Amino acid sequence: MINNIKGTKDILPNETPIWQYVENKIHVFFKQFGYSEIRTPKFEDTALFHRSIGEDTDIVTKEMYSWVDQGGNNLTLKPEVTVSVVRSLIQHKLNYTNKINRLYYIDSLFRRERPQKGRFRQFEQFGIEAIGSDQPEQDVEVISMAYYFYDSIGVKNLKLKINSIGSQETRNEYKKALQEFLLDSKEDLSEVSQKRLITNPMRILDTKIDFEKEIIKNAPKIIDFLNPEDKKHFDTILNYLDKLNIKYEIDHLLVRGLDYYSRTVFEIQSDLLGSQSALCGGGRYDYLVEELGGKPTSAIGFAAGIERLIIILNETSNIPYSYPDVYIVSLGSKAIEYSAKLAQDLRFNNNLIVVTDTLKQSLKSQMKEANKLKAKHTIIIGKKELDNKKIIIKNMESGNQDEIDFEKVRLYFK
Ligand code: HAM
Repeated sequence: MINNIKGTKDILPNETPIWQYVENKIHVFFKQFGYSEIRTPKFEDTALFHRSIGEDTDIVTKEMYSWVDQGGNNLTLKPEVTVSVVRSLIQHKLNYTNKINRLYYIDSLFRRERPQKGRFRQFEQFGIEAIGSDQPEQDVEVISMAYYFYDSIGVKNLKLKINSIGSQETRNEYKKALQEFLLDSKEDLSEVSQKRLITNPMRILDTKIDFEKEIIKNAPKIIDFLNPEDKKHFDTILNYLDKLNIKYEIDHLLVRGLDYYSRTVFEIQSDLLGSQSALCGGGRYDYLVEELGGKPTSAIGFAAGIERLIIILNETSNIPYSYPDVYIVSLGSKAIEYSAKLAQDLRFNNNLIVVTDTLKQSLKSQMKEANKLKAKHTIIIGKKELDNKKIIIKNMESGNQDEIDFEKVRLYFK
């Protein structure tokens, strides 16, 4: 027998209601802020991710599902969406058509990470990208949308962490200072961090290793290297957040695992998730459009794992399952014929969920099936009912039964 691949999952019928609930919520919520949905392909040219996410990031060095197809093309299953959205924006000149493109998405992504609670190799994300404004008001719009989304879906005790990693010049200066600081403890760093000390020292800041965390405690902070404009940009955002009563924590170690960020970076975390505590993450990427060949265009966005959200919702709330409104029990070929028509009528005209028997089961078995499906009503049609042009409707909760004329069935369910 062949099973599903490690790190992937089947979402079975008893789990899909919560997925549909979350997906519907995403569509309604983001449209309320004037965001439109964008859908990009599941795979892209491999070079697109190398150029933008960063050669030295975990994603590019070890997590991408890449292959050469029969035509010799280097392809990769999308490990994230931002880069594809920017590719699409440039290709279709959306940044010429609109000053600001407010976009949202729901997508399946692929990263070959070590699977654990809240971490998969195929996972689902929703996210937004606001492309066109470098103003702090845009940052506030995006950050507050992430925050309000979780609030509106009932996730409490959110921890918003925020930092500014400044402009490219700031980062170059900071990297030098950080390198100098870490050189003193080089021998104590892990092998990976020793390599990163040369290639990308900022990645060491979000280390998960305890003894490295100790070393980093006293490292220089990037916030002290910000130029006056970046500092003002960041302070303005914090001010707005205060005014909106959105609680945040400045996290000097928050640098995020993708190279395209500049200025604002943020994450929303939840204690309910264990070690994979990030519900969502995002930030500004003011250089990415240009780096991928478009005209310089500032941008900011975030993306959020849907599995992680559902883990929390499953623990904290009760999403109603759509049980059948009616199960039609029919006995004999004439009754079966009639039940098919009645079912259609009730579905289309009364908007009900209606299930009929397709196994030609006995009365007892059909009643059992209706019970198992938790149908709210059963309608019973046999020869007698057809002859009298009356059917029996049973309320499965109260046990009450009514005899109703054929032509009054629709009215009964109004
Ligand atoms: P990211 O931090 O790589 O950012 O991913 C965002 C969110 O996706 C994470 O906070 C987490 O909830 C979820 N996630 C990531 N990897 C996995 C996984 N293996 N299994 C389950 N969930 C996962 C980005 O992807 C950026 N594109 C965000 C962004 C948008 N920045 C600007 N715009």
